[in-house]
Amino acid sequence: MRSAEKKSVPLWKSDELDSPIPPVVEPAYFDQELNAWVLSRHADVLAALRSRSLVMYSSQLQTEEDERAMARMRAQTIEALSHVQLRTWADAISLTIDETLASLPEDQVVDLLEAYLRPACLALAAMVTEIEEKDAASLRELAHSVSASAAEPADPVLRENARAVTPELQACFHAKAESLRDSGFVALSHTLPCLLANGCYALLEHPEQWTILHKQPASVDQAIEELMRYAGLSRYLRRRATEDIVLAGASISKNDQLILRIVAANHDPERFACPNSLEVLRREAGQLTLGAGPHACVGASLLRMASAAILRPLLTRFASATLSGSVDWHGGSGFRAPTQLPVVLRETHHEKA
Ligand code: HEM
Repeated sequence: MRSAEKKSVPLWKSDELDSPIPPVVEPAYFDQELNAWVLSRHADVLAALRSRSLVMYSSQLQTEEDERAMARMRAQTIEALSHVQLRTWADAISLTIDETLASLPEDQVVDLLEAYLRPACLALAAMVTEIEEKDAASLRELAHSVSASAAEPADPVLRENARAVTPELQACFHAKAESLRDSGFVALSHTLPCLLANGCYALLEHPEQWTILHKQPASVDQAIEELMRYAGLSRYLRRRATEDIVLAGASISKNDQLILRIVAANHDPERFACPNSLEVLRREAGQLTLGAGPHACVGASLLRMASAAILRPLLTRFASATLSGSVDWHGGSGFRAPTQLPVVLRETHHEKA
């Protein structure tokens, strides 16, 4: 059961990446404080994500017109993220990254987030959302409160701050596909650095896994799936039942809410062998960090391309990286990520004596 922290806010300490306790995976139960069913087994969470009797949680009732608009937006995004387009962005971002990568110092402390991950993601965000590069930094600043609210959706002050800046932010983006405007910019300039920072933190905690990828950079694509499983960002997703159903062994009534614990599902021993160890060459598919089913993240191909384009050159150049200082965390029940990543990077690997 959940450790009682804040009533009505789903917070499981064991779902935090820096927690010494692994996530607890348990049968579905109804949590009185959260007023929601809680699902944490991989099979249960996947069944819920695929169920047509559950809709994305929202205080508004979702109409059929909302569903149709969402389907149009998905189709438009898939068209905008063609293989050719992804390849073009990957090539363009590689050129930008070369310069940033070359500026990273060896053998001295550098904040990997500030010096590499954030600028690389911001350059990509500007490219994909078709804004002028010179405007990117100020728009990133403006978008901060939207990202902060996504990280802690239960905080009404953060929600109000996000709501207040949204019209100004929206007016700055004009890409053809709706998902590649302001929301895509927030996802690429704020959320993606968080996802990559969690992945890098996991590699820093497991230096032998960094070394494997330095020696086998062709395995980075595969490793990204494992980093999303082990150190993914989304901690939980919400759903609401549109009819009475039996799911995960629970009798769920129409309008009941559900909390799907993504972190726990990604660490379910029934689904993943040795779930609490990071193995970058693992071949088990099925991580749920980008959701699954009809509402799975439609930006997934873009995120995979971007993650590989940003991480592969870093891992190729540096044989090792050592965490050098304490890491602070930001965010909340939605997602958490390091605020900074102080590291010492080395081009040659020094084996321990
Ligand atoms: C690190 C960045 C990202 C993460 C962790 C992420 C994660 C997710 C997750 C977990 C969902 C499923 C939500 C649910 O089932 O309730 C989702 C949906 C979605 N994502 Fe992403 N996403 C990211 C970036 C992006 C980007 C860059 C785009 C832009 C193309 C995007 C577009 C969407 C859309 C439009 C949906 C809703 C799909 C639907 O409801 O049918 N995401 N994302």
